[in-house]
Amino acid sequence: MASVSLISDTYPWKDLKNHVVDIKNTHLRDLMNDVDRCKTMMVEFDGLLLDYSRQRVIQDTMGKLFALAEAAHLKEKINRMYNGEHINSTEDRAVLHVALRASRDTVINSDGKNVVSEVWKVLDKIKEFTERVRSGAWVGATGKALKNVVAVGIGGSFLGPLFVHTALQTDPEAVASAKGRQLRFLANVDPIDVARSITGLDPETTLVVVVSKTFTTAETMLNARTLREWIIAALGPQAVAKHMVAVSTNITLVEKFGIDPNNAFAFWDWVGGRYSVCSAVGVLPLSLQYGFSLVRKFLDGALSIDKHFYSTPFEKNIPVLVGLLSVWNVSFLGSPARAILPYSQALEKLAPHIQQVSMESNGKGVSIDGVPLPFEAGEIDFGEPGTNGQHSFYQLIHQGRIVPCDFIGVLKSQQPVYLKGETVSNHDELMSNFFAQPDALAYGKTPEELLQENVPKHLIPHKTFSGNRPSLSLLLPSLNAYNIGQLLAIYEHRIAVEGFIWGINSFDQWGVELGKSLATRVRKQLNLSRTKGDPVEGFNHSTTTLLSKYLEAKSS
Ligand code: F6P
Repeated sequence: MASVSLISDTYPWKDLKNHVVDIKNTHLRDLMNDVDRCKTMMVEFDGLLLDYSRQRVIQDTMGKLFALAEAAHLKEKINRMYNGEHINSTEDRAVLHVALRASRDTVINSDGKNVVSEVWKVLDKIKEFTERVRSGAWVGATGKALKNVVAVGIGGSFLGPLFVHTALQTDPEAVASAKGRQLRFLANVDPIDVARSITGLDPETTLVVVVSKTFTTAETMLNARTLREWIIAALGPQAVAKHMVAVSTNITLVEKFGIDPNNAFAFWDWVGGRYSVCSAVGVLPLSLQYGFSLVRKFLDGALSIDKHFYSTPFEKNIPVLVGLLSVWNVSFLGSPARAILPYSQALEKLAPHIQQVSMESNGKGVSIDGVPLPFEAGEIDFGEPGTNGQHSFYQLIHQGRIVPCDFIGVLKSQQPVYLKGETVSNHDELMSNFFAQPDALAYGKTPEELLQENVPKHLIPHKTFSGNRPSLSLLLPSLNAYNIGQLLAIYEHRIAVEGFIWGINSFDQWGVELGKSLATRVRKQLNLSRTKGDPVEGFNHSTTTLLSKYLEAKSS
């Protein structure tokens, strides 16, 4: 592969920069009238439909974006990822979350080992363990079946599983298999989160799953110790063996903590935390709640997209297309944010999960070779399910800042409601908004239209919508485990595509370290054995004042 230090030095990047002026002279109102254009901007795959005709692009733009992909060696980078090369160079690791959902007979070698057989060893162990817990063959210290699970973990060891759990919670098949069971999460080190996670639970019927890749994360370890005490206080120290299991890459620390390594479920350093939901991180707690076979369907959905991403030409490749469009919006049209707007309450935790996947992956200031970027990478992701978001922040999206939007709709509701006397179903009502909003953003409303509607003159500037605001629409056939897996993999690969184009390392996260080490210094000042009145030392005026106030309140 020819080495290009910065993508912004290449001809396709400069060509796209020059092309911006052509696009600035277009309006989506007109572009949407070009049916041939719109037809080329719809892609169907495995029940999904992507419509990107409301992006501020013409066919020429797409050609230029594909040229950019070539200049960035996108195909080679994808191949290197799938081949298990150490593309996470700052941590000297492979990036193989695709191996987590591969079929049993697949071979992916990394560092001389077929990682897929390692994956399946753990999947088999999860299947066996979760079936024993769910059937009541594995019981707690007092002989009672374990019906409740608290998964303790933070960041990537929490957000993905929470997203999938929330999405499955109302799926009829999942509801049936979760009958009588509860899955809760404990992430924040805030003692309020501890209280929320165990309120109403009986330690006798609760299994705690400690999820931490490193098994050193301060928040998770304190929360794990707190729940260990909760179990010991109720059932005695020997109960830990029956009531606590772990998911980690660090089995030595799991054992040191007091959890039997036989009750530990491994994963590997080639699984990034934020890409770990398809490892034991997600598969164990989700299988405890919903049963392994349903979780396998989720993995199969992701696998379907993995194959599509690997083998489909870029023109029809959903993750590649949406990734390139994000680069276009961020780096060329200057939109720093992206709104994730699922028209499904079941997807309420999609945006929080994608925030981590995207912002921890692509929030970087230097290229993979350490060269400061002369452009900004990454985007600010936020979102809420429609229609709630419409009554919250859509005002800014319609008349304030330009924020490219992802509209995600589902053809069939998980929980349809048809009220007698209503003209449409509740899902129809929801979906009316899903279909209307992208056009409202694209077309806007002109002063002329308002005049025709006899809007008073002084209100015309306030009621004018400039339009020309980009969005893409993704339609899912339904929201079952398989479709949730598809959706997850589309976002994971899209984010990788963006990072590959920007030439950054999307798989490290050095930016979270500084805050962690500063917190360690502060923690020393808060030590419970500290003598009252000891001066706060070693901090600037601001932190000294704030800390002193906190210590004063603590001792009063
Ligand atoms: O926030 C930083 C981070 O390292 C994430 O990347 C990771 O998902 C999270 O902390 C939790 O880490 P661990 O699984 O090791 O506890």
